[in-house]
Amino acid sequence: MDPALDEREARERAFWRREGQAATPVGELRALLLKLGEAEWLLDRLDRYRSHFAGAKTILELGAGEGWGAAMVKRVFPEAEVIASDLSPDAVAHAARWAEIVGAAPDRTLACPSYEIPLEDGSVGLVFAFQAAHHFGEPERTLAEAYRVLRPGGACLYLHEPSCPPSLHRLAKARVNRKRPEVPEDVLVHSHLLELARAAGFDASVEFDADPAHRRPGETLYYAALKRLPFLHARLPCTADFVFRKSPR
Ligand SMILES: C[S@@+](CC[C@H](N)C(=O)[O-])C[C@H]1O[C@@H](n2cnc3c(N)ncnc32)[C@H](O)[C@@H]1O
Repeated sequence: MDPALDEREARERAFWRREGQAATPVGELRALLLKLGEAEWLLDRLDRYRSHFAGAKTILELGAGEGWGAAMVKRVFPEAEVIASDLSPDAVAHAARWAEIVGAAPDRTLACPSYEIPLEDGSVGLVFAFQAAHHFGEPERTLAEAYRVLRPGGACLYLHEPSCPPSLHRLAKARVNRKRPEVPEDVLVHSHLLELARAAGFDASVEFDADPAHRRPGETLYYAALKRLPFLHARLPCTADFVFRKSPR
């Protein structure tokens, strides 16, 4: 394995191990508040991409962490089989914790990297990642794997991801890693990711989202200004959704 990838994934796993071991009632309540704020973004996406979620018999989340997002998907789309997966076994082991809060739980959890999914070819109707794909160390292999497990006509959504143009990548990446140095993060270069997805066989598009609601302190003003200037969304760092469609035939 690539030593840099190995190190990156070891840090992701160590983060979740520490979270589990150091859990205190106050820490757990803080995590709950944080995730409930972020849930607004996910619920917006479930609405915006409703046809993709509603049309899928099996929905797979990649990089699901503790699976609260997959639990919400199950609550909103109870007919679907919902699978929460994450690189970290410690993270998915806590999926049951969210069931009482959300009122539903994923049907299954898998501890696996996004680029080695233990599911059959063509067995999934929708693959999605929510604010997680910018953590995946192997973007090409992940897209190839998503393509493999999707049925013809299925889709893969990368939702609420930090994105930027190539010229600002170094700066944007340094900024996010300064903010939260314990876990390595990237910022997705939208033009590059679209190229990779097309090379993997997908029809690919991006939608920028500069809504200032539920942003962290300091980001609200930036997004309030950016929202008024749509021509800058692709030219500056901006949250984005990526939609990758596999052809029906
Ligand atoms: C920012 S967290 C997001 C978790 C969850 N989606 C949420 O919104 O709370 C990113 C997640 O990606 C996971 N991750 C990192 N690299 C991964 C990979 N290659 N495959 C699957 N999961 C990965 C991490 O363990 C972490 O749980």
